[in-house]
Amino acid sequence: MLGYTQLDELDSIDGFTIPDKLQALDNYSQTAPKTLCYGHEFTNFAYMRSLRVAVVGATGLVGRTMLKVLEERGFPVSELILVASEKSLGSKIVFSGSEVEVVSIENALEMGADVALFSAGGAISLKWAHKFAEKGVTVIDNSSAFRMSPNHKLIIPEINGSDLVEGDLIIANPNCTTMQLVMALKPLHDRFRVKRGVVNTYQSVTGTGQAAIAQLEAERRGDEVEKVYPHNIDMNCLPHCDVFQENGYTKEEMKVHFETKKILGDEEIHLSCTAVRVPVAGGHSEAVYVEFEKDFELEEVRKLLEEFDGLILEDDPQNNVYPMPLNARGNDDVFVGRLRRDLAYEKGLHMWVVSDNLRKGAATNTIQIAEYLNSKGRWG
Ligand SMILES: NC(=O)c1ccc[n+]([C@@H]2O[C@H](COP(=O)([O-])OP(=O)(O)OC[C@H]3O[C@@H](n4cnc5c(N)ncnc54)[C@H](OP(=O)(O)O)[C@@H]3O)[C@@H](O)[C@H]2O)c1
Repeated sequence: MLGYTQLDELDSIDGFTIPDKLQALDNYSQTAPKTLCYGHEFTNFAYMRSLRVAVVGATGLVGRTMLKVLEERGFPVSELILVASEKSLGSKIVFSGSEVEVVSIENALEMGADVALFSAGGAISLKWAHKFAEKGVTVIDNSSAFRMSPNHKLIIPEINGSDLVEGDLIIANPNCTTMQLVMALKPLHDRFRVKRGVVNTYQSVTGTGQAAIAQLEAERRGDEVEKVYPHNIDMNCLPHCDVFQENGYTKEEMKVHFETKKILGDEEIHLSCTAVRVPVAGGHSEAVYVEFEKDFELEEVRKLLEEFDGLILEDDPQNNVYPMPLNARGNDDVFVGRLRRDLAYEKGLHMWVVSDNLRKGAATNTIQIAEYLNSKGRWG
């Protein structure tokens, strides 16, 4: 089914800020046909084709957030195929008011789709993504399986969406920690060029999936539960996200290092990271220190961040205004604040970056990639 909806009506709200526009579109989409589709500015409110969408890992934290984001953004879905593990087969999930049954990945492959949004872990992606791609399905993958592969693009649409070409059938979504960091760095790197930096993270338990939320909640109730972390997480901070490598860093910390270079297309950026898991459920926070090649003025930094699509500047510390995961939760934007020049190095900048890792860090970016491809005519 082809389902084009012209969005000329929305041109009249061009004078609004992006959040105003999205709010207006949100209100509009509640009464509009389900084929209505919109996105951030980069999609240019283009015509969108209705798609057969498969969500692999649909019962997980990222998968469920994807379904919510698809609904919220009015993504044009002509058919929805939901995939999860054997234990969830036959269960039903409500999407846009209708129940959809969870099927096996084998069934989903047979059913065919235009686009498959994968969030069921790296092993599933490595085993199945190519099989979907061989059938012409565009796979957008949330796992780390293809992120550093030289044959696959690592995409944040606002930053490098235009790198995508017709032959890119398996597209990688960046790691959530890298995603929000690179969103904040991009406008500054373009202007002042980031040379090196240090990133310390305060990562939400939602980054480890639903079992981690279960551990945190059970600890708070005083119940026994199978632990996903090696220690208690409530009332604690674990300087340990993902698996330790021989060099003393964790895989998560090395993802920040390598993925930043790949997304910004600059091998000379050297970031070191300490990733810490904290008993928070609303999003990841990052204390970011970067050194630039060029001199900067804080006012210009503020302006560049304010003007970048998908970033919100919250920087009024005298009035206790700065980004926090409690406020970022459920929001698609990346929030930046606590801007200040380093005390020892005049080309050094400190900032605090917060985002909902399940949204821009995973589900939202995946759907923005699909929107971007749709707006560029990937599906005709
Ligand atoms: N959480 C984040 O912030 C985040 C951010 C970026 C990327 N990611 C990546 O996204 C993926 C999912 O993360 P999550 O947090 O959503 O994890 P999760 O809550 O544990 O969900 C995992 C999902 O995968 C499904 N699954 C497991 N084994 C499967 C199998 N053999 N066949 C089909 N489906 C299977 C699960 O189905 P059942 O419910 O039936 O078990 C569930 O739907 C991971 O690769 C993760 O690294 C997560």
